[in-house]
Amino acid sequence: MVIKNSTYNKVSVVMFLLISGLTMFRAAEALSMNYYIMRCPMVELIVKDTVNRALQSDPTLAAGLIRMHFHDCFLQGCDASVLLDSTKGNTAEKDSPANLSLRGYEVIDDIKEQLEDQCPGVVSCADIVAMAARDAVFFAGGPVYDIPKGRKDGRRSKIEDTRNLPPPTFNSSELIRMFGQHGFTTQDMVALSGAHTLGVARCASFKNRLANFDSTHNVDPDIDTQFANTLIRTCKAGDNAEQPFDRSRNTFDNNYFIGLQNKAGVLSSDQTLFSSPQTRGIVNNYAMNEAMFFLDFQQAMVKMSLLDVKEGSKGEVRQNCRKIN
Ligand code: HEM
Ligand SMILES: *[C@@H]1O[C@H](CO)[C@@H](O)[C@H](O)[C@H]1NC(C)=O
Ligand SMILES: *[C@@H]1O[C@H](CO)[C@@H](O)[C@H](O)[C@H]1NC(C)=O
Repeated sequence: MVIKNSTYNKVSVVMFLLISGLTMFRAAEALSMNYYIMRCPMVELIVKDTVNRALQSDPTLAAGLIRMHFHDCFLQGCDASVLLDSTKGNTAEKDSPANLSLRGYEVIDDIKEQLEDQCPGVVSCADIVAMAARDAVFFAGGPVYDIPKGRKDGRRSKIEDTRNLPPPTFNSSELIRMFGQHGFTTQDMVALSGAHTLGVARCASFKNRLANFDSTHNVDPDIDTQFANTLIRTCKAGDNAEQPFDRSRNTFDNNYFIGLQNKAGVLSSDQTLFSSPQTRGIVNNYAMNEAMFFLDFQQAMVKMSLLDVKEGSKGEVRQNCRKIN
């Protein structure tokens, strides 16, 4: 169709410029791999270097940083809600019993301080958490991957939101359902659970499996007898005693899945992945093929890092990761 009316043409040119201008504005607000390349070119270097130094002095922090990212993204999206301190009128996520010993807050603060020096008000705490988790995976021996940046920080962090974290007593169907609600496939869920290749659980998180388990069993029948004795010995030191998830708690590898095949999963939610026919095949694949686990894990982590992200004016860039501006 040819439009002859020149006034109409002018109007449509203006309209076109307006719409493409808006699109460009939106594109500038959207997440991208190169989000900080002009705004704060040192960001990747500063995060990597700070995470590297922190892990050199305490390798167990890799687990802390990865878990922090998971808890952040599952509640209110990846918006650094997990970092906010409680205030007079508000108990934050981090003070829930379900914070389950989150660690690594000082590493995030350290990175944020350096970035505020370099490029004040530019890099969000949510992006810092996501990048720190990514670098922790790498320095612990896991896959290298990149994530889009440009997340904004949220303004809400409430203790009651932690109800939406999966409890360690969940069975495989319940895990599939909860992760499915966030858009994850069963395979994504099993791969993400593989983060338990790093770190520890405290006795409080699994002692229900060791005594008065159910009406017919004293000890959970899904635990190898010898491993049950190991867990019982760990728990002699109390609720806060730590049990590594696998044989190599600071190394990102597929030993976690091999452990599940040997009925040496620490949490019910770990062992259920092997007990249940819905997920056993995936566990067996990852136990046999570490490269496959790494590939699926990195894809699922990128997906997790994009959960309900806040872009543009939906959030802010906090000056201090522990409080809203
Ligand atoms: C599938 C459902 C999941 C459940 C039920 C679960 C539950 C738990 C529990 C109970 C602990 C031990 C806390 C304690 O006793 O102090 C733990 C630790 C941990 N979780 Fe998960 N988790 C799940 C998925 C994930 C995901 C998706 C990630 C990350 C991608 C993750 C990363 C970690 C890490 C790294 C630790 C060790 C933390 C440390 O050593 O400081 N978990 N998880
Ligand atoms: C976790 O929550 C407990 C209260 O249940 C609190 O005493 C503790 O300081 C919290 N841990 C962190 C790291 O915020
Ligand atoms: C998982 O738990 C739910 C809720 O307790 C239960 O209805 C379901 O039967 C369980 N599924 C399996 C496979 O045990």
